[in-house]
Amino acid sequence: MKKSTSEKKGLRLLPHFPTVVVGTGRGDNTNLITVALVHVFSFEPPYIGIGIAPSRYSFSLLRDNPEFTINVPSSEDMAAVIGCGSVSGKSVDKFSEFDLTPQESTKISTRGIQEFPITLECRVEKDVSVGDHVWFIGKVVSASVLRTGVDRSDLVLYWAGEFRRPGEILKKRK
Ligand SMILES: Cc1cc2nc3c(=O)[nH]c(=O)nc-3n(C[C@H](O)[C@H](O)[C@H](O)COP(=O)(O)O)c2cc1C
Repeated sequence: MKKSTSEKKGLRLLPHFPTVVVGTGRGDNTNLITVALVHVFSFEPPYIGIGIAPSRYSFSLLRDNPEFTINVPSSEDMAAVIGCGSVSGKSVDKFSEFDLTPQESTKISTRGIQEFPITLECRVEKDVSVGDHVWFIGKVVSASVLRTGVDRSDLVLYWAGEFRRPGEILKKRK
């Protein structure tokens, strides 16, 4: 179960170099895609961008319905992260394929993933084509986190093809 939090707090819970699973499409037809090209563009107001290659099925879904959910995995969710990045939603329902439960969003029609600890609901306001990806920049309109809280040390970082847990804290900013 998750409880509502402020969009700003939800956005700040994202680890650096995260890999997320993005929901696109509408309602029961929500598809999932693993995305490493994810970046915070603004904290106030909160904007986040995802880079999607035009060849992805998710790309056509985003063009059709400019909304998406960002679902941030924990270390327990690695099979789903790799799975959603290996097959196309054109032929597979990734929720049932990878044992994930769709979570109704509060402000958009696209579903989130119940099992993942953080979900951000976003509405696309801008898209920018850069090389081989198009960046869809969305305003975060709602955020939810696990009712029990998020253990930051259990979120997943992705760097140079390796999935990692965040390590030692070197220093705290004053
Ligand atoms: C770790 C990882 C990161 C990925 N990052 C991206 C990305 O940032 N952008 C993108 O378009 N595809 C990315 N992919 C590839 C897509 O997830 C993959 O092609 C997926 O099967 C497309 O699904 P779809 O056809 O249902 O949209 C990534 C895959 C993995 C495994």
